[in-house]
Amino acid sequence: MRRAKISIIGAGNVGATCAHWILTQELADVVLVDIPQFPGKDKDGKDIMVDNTMPAGKALDLYESSPICGCDCKFIGTSDYSHTADSDVVIVTAGIPRKPGMSRDDLIATNTKIVGEVAEKVAKYSPNAVMIVVSNPLDAMVYVAWKKSGFPTNRVVGQAGVLDTARYRAFLAEEIGCSVEDVQALLLGGHGDDMVPLARYTFAGGIPITQLVKPERLEQIIQRTRDGGAEIVKLLRTGSAYYAPAAATVQMAEAIIKDKKRILPCAAYCEKEYGIGGYFVGVPAVLGTNGVEKVIEIELDDNERKAFETSVQHVKDLVASVKL
Ligand code: NAI
Ligand code: 2OP
Repeated sequence: MRRAKISIIGAGNVGATCAHWILTQELADVVLVDIPQFPGKDKDGKDIMVDNTMPAGKALDLYESSPICGCDCKFIGTSDYSHTADSDVVIVTAGIPRKPGMSRDDLIATNTKIVGEVAEKVAKYSPNAVMIVVSNPLDAMVYVAWKKSGFPTNRVVGQAGVLDTARYRAFLAEEIGCSVEDVQALLLGGHGDDMVPLARYTFAGGIPITQLVKPERLEQIIQRTRDGGAEIVKLLRTGSAYYAPAAATVQMAEAIIKDKKRILPCAAYCEKEYGIGGYFVGVPAVLGTNGVEKVIEIELDDNERKAFETSVQHVKDLVASVKL
């Protein structure tokens, strides 16, 4: 039987950590791609960026850990897209991360160019893949990847909700003093400061969260979730979070590769759904072999809908500022 193949574009912190989580699950063969980025000379002596052995070094290091982890998957690191041919899933983490004081939106011009170029190459070499976009600003970058790849909307999806929900679940489990596994939660909207964690759809061991955590404390936890990315940026000082983002991304890849039909919050294309009209925003979606197989519409009360609409409007404004 052919093993599944995942290519990861951008072998930086998130990309390499995705490869690590894939290895620990023996999920798929991995191709790690990054750009030539060492200064050198071309044959006429002109200054150019020359080949980059960094992804090959990371791939070899991962492969050398595979006997310990009991993983028979292959790991390749390269700048040559031909190695990515016929991937089942392509994870796009290429781009720059934010630094302290920057918002995710500050990355838009640089990452639009990078993600656009990457998406064209992904489509050329893996025309049937499902593409999971991670690069920020997430909701706009999924849109760019969709436009530039020409993929159908179900085969382009963004990772944000699994991460944001994981942060929310972790903070709640800590507050309640229960297992993180017992906290179930849902979060809607863009991957920004106005994301919408839904208290009404949050449970611990089947018990509504509002019976376990006082309203003012819950509001503080929701705010900490919204600020979750910035909290890590401030602590790391160089770059942004990568362990949890990569774990979240690999959970989505696993759902697709194993056709698990998991319901996960992700940036999925919504046309009629929620009356959004053609944007990728965070909604609960069924993930399987065909990528996003269904967007699930849930009931929202007036306050939840208002908060969701504010977040969606931010996504629309962000997409409007993209220069393709
Ligand atoms: P990083 O700087 O460690 O890695 C990015 C890598 O992309 C670098 O190795 C760089 O050389 C590479 N790259 C740049 N242009 C490329 C191109 N054209 N082709 C291939 N590779 C290219 O950054 P990190 O921490 O891995 O973050 C990557 C992106 O993911 C950032 O935009 C960050 O904001 C975003 N992010 C999104 C999250 C989410 O939940 N959606 C969570 C964490 C990060
Ligand atoms: C995060 O939420 C940087 O978007 C990234 O950690």
